[in-house]
Amino acid sequence: MLTLGIETSCDETAASIVADGTTVRSSIVAAQVVHSRYGGVVPELASRAHARLILPVVKTALEVAGIGLEELDLVAATCAPGLLGALLVGLPFAKALAWSQGLPFVGVNHLEGHIFAVYLHNPTIHHPFIALIVSGGHTELILVEERCRYRPLGVTLDDACGEAFDKAAKMLGFPYPGGAFIEQQARQGRPVVHFPEPKIAGLDFSFSGLKTALLYYLRDIGFLVPGRTGQLGDQALADISCSFQEVLIDCLVHKLSQAVTETGIRSIAVTGGVAVNRRLRDRLDQLAREHGLVLCVPAATLCTDNAAMIAACGYERYKLFGPSSPELAASARAELGPGS
Ligand code: KG4
Ligand code: ZN
Repeated sequence: MLTLGIETSCDETAASIVADGTTVRSSIVAAQVVHSRYGGVVPELASRAHARLILPVVKTALEVAGIGLEELDLVAATCAPGLLGALLVGLPFAKALAWSQGLPFVGVNHLEGHIFAVYLHNPTIHHPFIALIVSGGHTELILVEERCRYRPLGVTLDDACGEAFDKAAKMLGFPYPGGAFIEQQARQGRPVVHFPEPKIAGLDFSFSGLKTALLYYLRDIGFLVPGRTGQLGDQALADISCSFQEVLIDCLVHKLSQAVTETGIRSIAVTGGVAVNRRLRDRLDQLAREHGLVLCVPAATLCTDNAAMIAACGYERYKLFGPSSPELAASARAELGPGS
């Protein structure tokens, strides 16, 4: 069964063909570079770029998979959460395509899509497992009881983890999205600047205090004074990046470890754009080794936004629950709850 997946929830226009929910035949991602000079995603520009890119991206996904439209069996598209104007490009496109071809259509929650990146990486992962989704828009700890059955454990109370990386990168003068720049700088740095690790009760996260701590630190050393910007030496920039990254990763690893202790579940999976970070991956390996846990972190191309995860999730939901209503609306917000 061939599923076309479409993803337009933020600043990637993506399409993918996945066979039987497991084999990725093509995965095309057009990352929109237009936002980099603005220090964040500009919703209006994202919608316009999606409208321009969606047709060529879908065509390329079909070409690379070596199939024609008539060979498709199912169309799946992200319907929530995300930028409304961005979702309103991919979702109606997918519905119209499905309708024109007489195919079933399934709407997919983007967060559930990120969880399906884990199944694409390891189709035999045992349930239950704890999934940590760390992306530009989300930081969520979820207990995955079985496919499509979830229990939320914790969520960020303010900024998402990737957002904290991006805001820190902006303060340090890197372009958007800045997570990869911080990681690159951090490799040459030492964790010599003390940023306090946020202490939040339970399994929730908070990153805005850390962001403010960085802001005050930069102000106190005179880096934010107009005219002095850019005067940080290479080593100082690397040390600040390293110190900041280390605390962020500490938060993630400590909460994950706490979730393991509280639930007694021995399998963990980490996905979303921040899971590309090599230092985070190393720390997760270390955590898994020390506690004898089974760890699954998908390949980088599956961690960042892509449509293969949407196709895989759409396929599973179609098998379990049938097609979505043609009236399914896009929604900027959506929780992943039990049976959602
Ligand atoms: O999952 P994703 O592609 O899109 C969303 O659903 O948001 O995640 C993008 C986020 C951005 O905040 C980006 O800065 C972050 O992932 N990111 C990283 C790295 N690569 C991407 N953060 C830290 N280290 C990286 N190497
Ligand atoms: Zn995402």
